[in-house]
Amino acid sequence: MAKYEEFPRIKRLPQYVFAVVNELKAKMRREGEDIIDFGMGNPDLTPAPHIIEKLCESAKKPHTHRYSMSQGIPRLRKAICDFYERQYGVKLDPEEEAIMTIGSKEGISHLMIAMLEPGDIALVPSPRYPIHYYAPVIAGASVLTVPLPLEGTDSEKQEQFLRNIYTSYEDSYPQPKVLILNFPNNPTTMVVTKEFFKEIVDFAKKKNLWIIHDFAYADLCFDGYKAPSILEIDGAKDVAVELYSMTKGFSMAGWRVGFVLGNPTIVYNLKRLKSYLDYGTFTPIQVASVIALDSDYSIVEKTRDIYSRRLDILVEGLNRAGWKVEKPKATMFLWAKIPPQFKDMNSVDFSMKLLKEAKVAVAPGAGFGEHGEGYVRFAVVENEKRIRQAVRNIKKFLRQYS
Ligand SMILES: Cc1ncc(COP(=O)(O)O)c(C=O)c1O
Repeated sequence: MAKYEEFPRIKRLPQYVFAVVNELKAKMRREGEDIIDFGMGNPDLTPAPHIIEKLCESAKKPHTHRYSMSQGIPRLRKAICDFYERQYGVKLDPEEEAIMTIGSKEGISHLMIAMLEPGDIALVPSPRYPIHYYAPVIAGASVLTVPLPLEGTDSEKQEQFLRNIYTSYEDSYPQPKVLILNFPNNPTTMVVTKEFFKEIVDFAKKKNLWIIHDFAYADLCFDGYKAPSILEIDGAKDVAVELYSMTKGFSMAGWRVGFVLGNPTIVYNLKRLKSYLDYGTFTPIQVASVIALDSDYSIVEKTRDIYSRRLDILVEGLNRAGWKVEKPKATMFLWAKIPPQFKDMNSVDFSMKLLKEAKVAVAPGAGFGEHGEGYVRFAVVENEKRIRQAVRNIKKFLRQYS
């Protein structure tokens, strides 16, 4: 029961499903338990030293403490456009096709407020990162859930997902205004090809549908895989924007640096809204972000390789312990089906059991929407030694139930 009266908009925001597991985790920690925590995708790595030095240097200058620019300083918008040209061969205009956001979470939230009104419909996959669902809800719009396929090969899942989008669109009245996508995907780690993006861009053009692509895991791709940007598709800018974030690849989670890139109408409208709401991220953070984006990409590759090694250890360890899982092509997550001997338990109960008995915290799949039930998500934000310890704990735990 809520302690205070909830205002109508707040009433539409239920407590996070993760809260139950988090409460138990906090209680066990207070009691002195050492919990190995794969629950939240909160990066534990730090940005490269020269980026932090630039932040300090810039913060020492007196003029950097005034209000910054809500759309991002021009040098930063140029740096992200240059980065996109180098990484994806995509040309963007820093004035009209790029705006800085206070991380992609703020970006997507205000984007939905800028784009949607009560009565509008957003198509949102399930399972999904929670704000993909709740940003349209906060904007007062309705959400139509599109199931994200969880079984099959990459191309089968991709085909099925396209069919699910088409069916949901056709079944909807009024016609949906926006479609939210996120590949590489959190939580399922699903990836798609350029052909998928091409098909969905063609569809969106025919139907006057806006596409919002959250590209938060752009830089965390493993073993030779490279995730495509939707903006690589000819004409994507007519209907799509992409959210790029410095949180994961650059390990700058707390800095709050993200971008909305692509369609100039969407960028213009977001710029107008944000000019009322904020003065932008602290200038020294923006200055240091320029240095980060202009740096040799090897700083990102180092981070990516750390997550990749951690996933190798986790995946090999769990398979040896009898929990059949596959290494993802990208992200910092392992999306694991609850082992068969626990198939009658829901994902929250299984996560609580794993926490109590193996001292390992994971995120229950149901926290990402009803289609996530039956799965849990590991975020590899613990070091290799602790991942090995977690594997030993899980092995012991599973042995009791085999
Ligand atoms: C899919 C997805 N989008 C956005 C975010 C948040 O990114 P940012 O730190 O840029 O707000 C996350 C963080 O976990 C995420 O998984």
